[in-house]
Amino acid sequence: MDRKPLTLHRLRELYATGEKLTMLTCYDAVFAQVLDAAGVEILLVGDSLGMVLQGHDSPLPTTLEEMAYHTRCVARGNRSAWIVADMPFGSYYETVEQGVRSAAALMQAGAHMIKLEGGGWTVPLVRALVERGIPVCGHLGLTPQSVHALGGWRVQGRSDEAAATLKRHAQELAQAGAAMIVLELVPAALAREITAELPIPTIGIGAGAGCSGQVLVLHDMLDITPGKKARFVRNFMEGAPGIDAAVRSYVSEVKAGRFPDDRLHSR
Ligand code: KIV
Repeated sequence: MDRKPLTLHRLRELYATGEKLTMLTCYDAVFAQVLDAAGVEILLVGDSLGMVLQGHDSPLPTTLEEMAYHTRCVARGNRSAWIVADMPFGSYYETVEQGVRSAAALMQAGAHMIKLEGGGWTVPLVRALVERGIPVCGHLGLTPQSVHALGGWRVQGRSDEAAATLKRHAQELAQAGAAMIVLELVPAALAREITAELPIPTIGIGAGAGCSGQVLVLHDMLDITPGKKARFVRNFMEGAPGIDAAVRSYVSEVKAGRFPDDRLHSR
């Protein structure tokens, strides 16, 4: 595929026309090449690599140096996709200065945008990053770095109060200058409402078809991850002759609004 490098401007244009955005996690150069060539717009160097590649049971042990290493690997393999790198646990929790320093390390490693988890307390950092020319993606709902506080991998925003807090946090992130928000494990109806009310795209994972785009963990959608699949995951290798075809199928199913299917993949 011969396409121009994705820019924030181009992503905003796609969002404005209502085209669904496609994101997949990516942790190395070969997959970066494959995903980029298959037309995935956004490669997420997610801290899920702590579980997928490093064998931990949460992303908490993954360090900033490890995230920068994998961001460098992805950047070397990528040609035209937009690269988002996760700020890992603890790398932005202390002060705005610490967060800006951590974000700078990921941008120097080749990221085009950083992603950070949480709302409310993250707003001053989001503002500081955007003022310094660092694009930011927020992450609300099930925020894996808080998995122990949240009591496990469970759907968020079920009560009226929790839903209202999620909506407020999303608005505050957008006002602070975040250019995109990942919504993870949020009821489909709530994610749809948040998306309709926001001036920026939402990227859903386990958050239904009403989001502006979708993301999955690459190893889940390729059915490499052992054990029981989460309800929101679809095995794109089923019926596909190879990885390239599976990724292309993911892109076309998301673009056509056929994945996710709220009857099968959402709460
Ligand atoms: O780290 C990650 O892979 C993520 C996605 C699940 C959105 O944050």
